[in-house]
Amino acid sequence: MCGIVGYVGWRDATDVLIDGLSKLEYRGYDSSGIAVFENEVIKVAKSKGRLTDLQNKMNQEGKPIGHAGIGHTRWATHGEPSDRNSHPHGGGNVTLVHNGIIENYKRLKEFLLSKGRVFESDTDTEVVAQLLDYYYQENHGNPMDAIIRTMQELEGSYALGIVFADFPDKVYALRKESPLIVGIGENESFIASDMTAILQYTKNYYLLEHDEIAVLSKKQVKVYDLHYQKIQKELKIADWDVSAAEKCGYEHYMLKEIHEQPTAVKTTITPRITDGLPNLEECGITPEKLMEFHKIHIVACGTAMHAGTVGKYVIEKLARIPVNVDIASEFRYREPLVSQNDLVIIISQSGETADSLAALRLAKKLGAKTLAIVNAKGSSIAREADMLIYTHAGPEIAVASTKAYMVQIAVMYLFAFELALANHAIDEQECRRLTALLQETPEKIAEILEHKEMTQLIASELITADSLLYIGRGLDYALSMEGSLKLKEISYIHSESYAAGELKHGTISLITENMPVIAIATQQKLFDKTISNIKEVKARGAKVILVCREDYTPEQDIADYKFGLPDYDDLLMPMLAVVPLQLIAYYTAVHKGTDVDKPRNLAKSVTVE
Ligand code: F6R
Repeated sequence: MCGIVGYVGWRDATDVLIDGLSKLEYRGYDSSGIAVFENEVIKVAKSKGRLTDLQNKMNQEGKPIGHAGIGHTRWATHGEPSDRNSHPHGGGNVTLVHNGIIENYKRLKEFLLSKGRVFESDTDTEVVAQLLDYYYQENHGNPMDAIIRTMQELEGSYALGIVFADFPDKVYALRKESPLIVGIGENESFIASDMTAILQYTKNYYLLEHDEIAVLSKKQVKVYDLHYQKIQKELKIADWDVSAAEKCGYEHYMLKEIHEQPTAVKTTITPRITDGLPNLEECGITPEKLMEFHKIHIVACGTAMHAGTVGKYVIEKLARIPVNVDIASEFRYREPLVSQNDLVIIISQSGETADSLAALRLAKKLGAKTLAIVNAKGSSIAREADMLIYTHAGPEIAVASTKAYMVQIAVMYLFAFELALANHAIDEQECRRLTALLQETPEKIAEILEHKEMTQLIASELITADSLLYIGRGLDYALSMEGSLKLKEISYIHSESYAAGELKHGTISLITENMPVIAIATQQKLFDKTISNIKEVKARGAKVILVCREDYTPEQDIADYKFGLPDYDDLLMPMLAVVPLQLIAYYTAVHKGTDVDKPRNLAKSVTVE
């Protein structure tokens, strides 16, 4: 979704803004723009398309030169992607950039039209700029009064970066719901939607809270509440290395992130294991607490929801507690049956997904205990949940999630082991055995990554397909959902995941020689049954790609290609089997020449519902 960067200091502001925006490209966008004070006059440049389009435009028309300004990448919501609708937007003295949605913009626009204001774009953002300028004029040129007055009127979620023509050495910033941080450097300060945008300049930052307003100048940053009271902010230090947000020699972030999975798993689970047993006490989770829960709801979106589906199979199998998995956008509107003895787990990489955040708030309102499994430190979901397990994947830049999924399922395992032990559904010896197996998965994943050539060959077979099926049973079915989503989102090839045993109840009619099937068969108890289902599709002409254990040699009537996995415990196989599925999706997209890291229409952090 939209990205915001702001700067005031001694560097070339345009360079800092463009550099910061390039780090936010992964969030997804369709236009971009900047506003920079040049000789105390605001100069705006904006363009539909990629940042390179904006840069080309500035090369032709002149790049603003100055030391303070704001920048934006826009993911269209109100109004088509166009130069006209790109941010920054202005109104008289005010120029601003916005992330989020102003829900009451129509009413506010009517009010402003009645005051003779003229609009140049279709956006809700321009309404904010005009309203702010309206109050600025009314308040005789006092920015803070005008900002506070405007915030009283706005409904919805927003983060804003603002400059006033009368104050060329200042940048104003504020947030409600949508995230925004303030970076503190040496004689310079920054605003950004997330840390990756400014990591190369500073690691020191303030996390702006809801309804806080920051006033940035070269020498200092002051933060106020809505009553104009100064707030003492805690200075935080990002523990990410600059290289975490760089490609480091990989062709794409996605490939780099796939390769980071062994380390991400190790970093996530190691601090949560004591004497060979899971220990989630630092996350606020104790065996006593776990015994209180009668039922678990896992609520999330997309890939995170797929991680929750793996979690359901593992928790139900080991801990014998019923688990519902819900899509957050459904959960929040269907009056879910959640009671005070239930635990609601929200899984989110970004910690800012609008539907997942709303689901969390609803669960709390219904009296359930909530646990967040989140990657982004200090995000809204992380801060609002009762209990919190951070995944330590580091920044995930590629829109298609890989390493975040991997650590989400790693945490699901740890949680399930601890819960099963607390409920006496497994004994300590079994818990130790499982925990030790989990600890060995990073090596196994690394082993698979060393033998990935087969996935390239498989991908070259898939590029001509219009549609694909992913099938599996049990945990393999849970995994097939993620495999299918990965392929669709980056290669633009349609695919569906199906429970292998369900195929013959309708979907098998789609099978022809033009419909390749990726079959996952890692679950030994279900193996023969899955193989029978594979034979059914093979007999109808489908090309079959089989993901199974290395030691199984399929006959010709079963598979055309096989990706072999190391032998491992059935329960943990998803952590291994997802790797070839990610790689098949990745190489298919590469062969097709799509924009792997920034697939069309997608945004990394979905902060609108
Ligand atoms: C797909 C993908 C998305 C996200 C979903 C939830 O690769 O990344 O499906 O999983 O938008 O995002 P978070 O985890 O940030 O809540």
